[in-house]
Amino acid sequence: MGIGTWSWGNQLLWGYNEEMDDELQQVFNLCVSKGIRLFDTGDSYGTGRLNGQSEKLLGKFMEEYARQNGGVYPNIGTKFASYPWRLTVGRNKACDESAERLRRPVDIGQIHWSTANYFPWQERVLWESLVSLYKSGRCRAVGVSNYGPQQLRKIHAFLQDNGVPLASNQIQYSLLSRTVGEEVKEVCDELGIAMIAYSPLGLGLLSGRYQSKDDLPKGPRGFVFRERVEEVAPLLECLREVADQRGKTIAQVAINWCLCKDTIPIPGAKSLKQAEENLGAVGWRLTMSEVEVLDLAAKRVPRELVQNIFQTK
Ligand SMILES: NC(=O)c1ccc[n+]([C@@H]2O[C@H](COP(=O)([O-])OP(=O)(O)OC[C@H]3O[C@@H](n4cnc5c(N)ncnc54)[C@H](OP(=O)(O)O)[C@@H]3O)[C@@H](O)[C@H]2O)c1
Repeated sequence: MGIGTWSWGNQLLWGYNEEMDDELQQVFNLCVSKGIRLFDTGDSYGTGRLNGQSEKLLGKFMEEYARQNGGVYPNIGTKFASYPWRLTVGRNKACDESAERLRRPVDIGQIHWSTANYFPWQERVLWESLVSLYKSGRCRAVGVSNYGPQQLRKIHAFLQDNGVPLASNQIQYSLLSRTVGEEVKEVCDELGIAMIAYSPLGLGLLSGRYQSKDDLPKGPRGFVFRERVEEVAPLLECLREVADQRGKTIAQVAINWCLCKDTIPIPGAKSLKQAEENLGAVGWRLTMSEVEVLDLAAKRVPRELVQNIFQTK
């Protein structure tokens, strides 16, 4: 399991403010001390004047943790936004800027999204940039995000021809977003690519915290959840039954389901309490029959969560 840090710097969707930083340092410390070795970030994470804040906080937290614990560093996977002005192989610059914010070289450099759906001619430049990042030694490994089965095969073949291994593909995958993930997982397995499951808690809907229209998060998530809380209720009930039998929480079971599907979930955590709970998702496994019961309950939910607009075929 890794930890997602999209919310660290995002005021608009996640209600971040800088007063949270001390607690986020504690979240980071706890996770690393409990063995978490992957943090996910992106150069576009952070809203307005806080652009790049997630990488900056990780840089600061890593330095502080390493100072206190004799140079222990986790791996950082960052994602380079496929902005239209990043048209040249000059994406090395984006990586150098991320490394500056992280105060360390980038471990896994990923294309945040493919441009195949809207600027197909930019796509090849993105692929070439991964070759350049890997061969110049700027990133220890390279990966992609929001690549569907077809596009994944194409970039894998291109990188292979250029002698570059494709380490990972990051996809929205949870009990509320299974269809695309299942198709992608088959290709990942065939090609030897790790599948990183983002939004494994369905943006918080699978934490069990939001169960009625009177108790929803502020902002855009509240609008999405308003339409979904009722139809997700039977799935949450099923999660609760499994959780009670196991002495776990709903969130822990939802994350463990992703682990049982042989993916690497990267749940977001905004507080020490959430991080502590989510860390309890590892070190045990749901049985096959528990997974089947959850699969069935998930299939009965009328709609999955909306896919990322950049998700390709
Ligand atoms: N590649 C991409 O395009 C992409 C897209 C999306 C996300 N990601 C990555 O995936 C990571 C995880 O996805 P996500 O943050 O979108 O969603 P998520 O992991 O499904 O949900 C995270 C949110 O759920 C709530 N939560 C977490 N643990 C909880 C707990 N134990 N109890 C109650 N509530 C809890 C928190 O929000 P509240 O407290 O506000 O409810 C938290 O911010 C991101 O941080 C990011 O690194 C990547």
